[in-house]
Amino acid sequence: MVQLEHPTINMYAKLEFQNLMNSVKSRAAYNMLYSAIEKGDIDQDTTLIESSSGNLAIALATICKFLGIKFIPVIDPNTNIMYENLLSSISYQVIKVTERDHTDGYLLTRLNKIQELLTEIPNVYWLNQYQNPDNYYAHYYGIGEELTEHFEELDYAFIGVGTGGTISGVSNRLKEKFPKIKIIAVDSEGSAIFSDKKKKRYIPGIGASKVPELVKRAVIDEVVIIPELDTVAGCHQLYELHGIFAGGSSGTSYYAVNQYFKEKKLEKRPNVVFFMPG
Ligand SMILES: Cc1ncc(COP(=O)(O)O)c(C=O)c1O
Repeated sequence: MVQLEHPTINMYAKLEFQNLMNSVKSRAAYNMLYSAIEKGDIDQDTTLIESSSGNLAIALATICKFLGIKFIPVIDPNTNIMYENLLSSISYQVIKVTERDHTDGYLLTRLNKIQELLTEIPNVYWLNQYQNPDNYYAHYYGIGEELTEHFEELDYAFIGVGTGGTISGVSNRLKEKFPKIKIIAVDSEGSAIFSDKKKKRYIPGIGASKVPELVKRAVIDEVVIIPELDTVAGCHQLYELHGIFAGGSSGTSYYAVNQYFKEKKLEKRPNVVFFMPG
């Protein structure tokens, strides 16, 4: 956690890209995999499949490589090319869909491919990060718990939404300790999670082509939707003003915090946290 300079708020950034495997997704990957192995759903001969825009795939591929489990990620053209190259060298196989779905995203096409693989591959297992409760618990007991230990008072948390694992787990834990906290969901323009306005998206991380089941468990006070050009501006500002070189969803949340407090009348300097997922 680092505090960033801001004229009217105490702005804290949680640097989740400093986790092992460089993203917030190492938490979800570890917890979902650990739990599935413990329940006996996955063994040495299982082929694991998962739909991912990149970060979860990297985290799962890394752990599966350690464990000697075959892993096939289903990715799309928005996946960062460096991630795609890395995945090709550490996964059993990489499948990349190319057709956009009816919302102009790729998620529904990836999920259709997953359904096909489930019928084609013997001893196959899909963790399904969009509704797996162990994704939720990874963040409830992970970031959520860490923040309750770190802060005596916390007024706002800005949380980017993809599968909803982070916001559902963290929001529930934070509301227990800080009942008055405002949870602000951050989404990307064109995503179908909080709006039905279609628009092509090119930056992976935040946003989805449908409302993931886990989002329904989140406690959300307000939603801020950021166009992708502002995401790019947010990434540049993070680098130029704070020396932080981070990915799209970090830039989106940073931009959302600044936009939200730009003209807000405040009685005190609130404690505000936002996440840099990867
Ligand atoms: C970089 C990045 N940011 C944000 C998210 C969204 O997190 P969640 O899926 O927990 O909603 C993801 C998820 O893939 C991500 O990879």
